[in-house]
Amino acid sequence: MVFQRETIGNLPAYKQGVAPGDSGAFKLSSNENPFSPLPSVVASLADALGNIHLYPSMAAPEVTARIAKRYDVQPDNLAFGAGSVEVASQLIHASAGDGDEVIFAWRSFEAYPILVQVAGATPVPVPLTADERHDLPAMAAAITARTRLIFVCNPNNPTGATVTTAELHAFMERVPAEVLVVVDEAYVHFNTDPDSAIGIDFFNQYPNVAVLHTFSKAYGLAGLRLGYAIAPADVAANLRRVSVPFAVTDLAQRAAVASLNAEAELSERIDTIVAERARVLLGLRALGVSVADSHANFVWLRTGDETDRVNAVFVANGILARAFSGEGIRVSIGSVEANDRFLQAASQAW
Ligand SMILES: Cc1ncc(COP(=O)(O)O)c(C=O)c1O
Repeated sequence: MVFQRETIGNLPAYKQGVAPGDSGAFKLSSNENPFSPLPSVVASLADALGNIHLYPSMAAPEVTARIAKRYDVQPDNLAFGAGSVEVASQLIHASAGDGDEVIFAWRSFEAYPILVQVAGATPVPVPLTADERHDLPAMAAAITARTRLIFVCNPNNPTGATVTTAELHAFMERVPAEVLVVVDEAYVHFNTDPDSAIGIDFFNQYPNVAVLHTFSKAYGLAGLRLGYAIAPADVAANLRRVSVPFAVTDLAQRAAVASLNAEAELSERIDTIVAERARVLLGLRALGVSVADSHANFVWLRTGDETDRVNAVFVANGILARAFSGEGIRVSIGSVEANDRFLQAASQAW
């Protein structure tokens, strides 16, 4: 075999949620938006299909201007990628190399430890508290002279728990000014916790905070791949340096702008998903399932040793969720029909 980095061969591949095919099952494993794309978004794409022989603009001028205005930041505070997972990768590559450490809560977004190791850096996972929340004091205690980057996933994937404003301020007091804290807000639009920290407020207050957002979840553009960081200008410039040229397509940029033009419609959809989340949680509790509140578009079942058994019941009942053997199962909030099926599957499992 030709030379390959040994660490890469040992990495687990990122696991995609299983596709239902034509089985009639519901895929609730990837936190996708259950609504089909808005007609105005589809129309904006149709208009642009005649240009797909051309490279996109790497500056993404329109979407940059819109997001800068929306968050009252400068265009040079923004860096884009093919999904926020690519921007997370840019953040790691720009900050951490061989022997450097990147701290994150665990369990959290599965890509963090993979991306950190791809960059040659060392993942430092810090266990969640017993009530499934970030243990920020323990994360602060894990900071060493080699720490280069810290992810705070708020709300956390897969537990749906938030970090409060007070907790994040107390944490920031303990983070050295040279260490960048990334508040990953992939699910921020579903976050109804009034005490939750809001990334942009921290970005405005601390020079070492960046925020990650995505168009994949609330905006329903997972298939087109667009995410961005709001970051200090020197960091954002480095993100652009490490980014893969032309990764963000013209179609993604157009769909994002069309989505920003349709926020009223999208926020109705978000409200529906949040209401469905409440209904699912109530339904589960009515079955006697112990389940914590979630502030994202999924719920987390701490099934522990029962995980494989419960998941098998879900699969048998047409629910494809994300099971972490020995730990728990994350189930995305889907359409009303899918959520009904999930509750019915849960009634079989408990
Ligand atoms: C916490 C978190 N961050 C980032 C992402 C990446 O999403 P995308 O690359 O589609 O923007 C995900 C996707 O599941 C996620 O859960």
